[in-house]
Amino acid sequence: MALFSKKENSTTLERPHFDVLPEHVGIIMDGNGRWAKKRGLPRTAGHKEGAETFRTISKECGRLGIKSATFYAFSTENWKRPKEEVDAIMCLFKQYLLEAKDDITAAENNRLRFIGVREGVSDELLTLMDEAEEETKNNTGCEIILAVNYGGREEIVSAVNKLIAEGKTKITEDDISNNVYTAPDCDLIIRPSGEQRLSNFLLWQAAYSEFWYSDVLWPDFTVNDLYKALTDFQNRNRRFGG
Ligand code: FPP
Repeated sequence: MALFSKKENSTTLERPHFDVLPEHVGIIMDGNGRWAKKRGLPRTAGHKEGAETFRTISKECGRLGIKSATFYAFSTENWKRPKEEVDAIMCLFKQYLLEAKDDITAAENNRLRFIGVREGVSDELLTLMDEAEEETKNNTGCEIILAVNYGGREEIVSAVNKLIAEGKTKITEDDISNNVYTAPDCDLIIRPSGEQRLSNFLLWQAAYSEFWYSDVLWPDFTVNDLYKALTDFQNRNRRFGG
């Protein structure tokens, strides 16, 4: 049986209209462990359910016409978790790339991209990630960015080191913006599960992000929760310090 089942078919829902859509949404997929604990299940069951939610929400981002959506899937700090849990998450990435990639591409013509440090990720997974990027690079839908082995501080340091290697001795904000893994800046950051922190996610791109929090645990997060966040976002008064 396929690991990824169709959890929720959002294409049957009427597509809501938003006057203003964020160009780039960042989503911190949090609460998988608590979701599993509440049900007396191993944490890995929460990650599996969370992967399904990722699949539903990433497709919906494409359906709504959002240009880029970055999902925080595995941080540079997450290696500290028990090996069994890390292995299970890596296995979910692999299964997703083997089973679900064609579906997400076909559904909304989305593009897949991966950001983060390649060292530490298995060669097998890196190959699948590279293939997915290559196969979807000409798609015109939402750019679905999966942050794997990602840390915001590492991203900034790596951008600066790249600039130094190029011989730069004076660095501007534009230099860093042009050398972090993702552009443009993030308009909206969504964090479910009741936690209200950034956890080293998109530090550079979040300078003027709007934040939206919810107590819903990520595996229970639905397209309606996404609509709530987007409705709230379009009513925000963004002044960018002006
Ligand atoms: C944080 O919740 C979640 C993670 C560290 C892993 C996120 C991974 C997935 C959603 C699976 C991704 C799979 C694909 C295919 C993209 P937590 O475990 O820290 O939850 P807790 O705070 O309740 O313990």
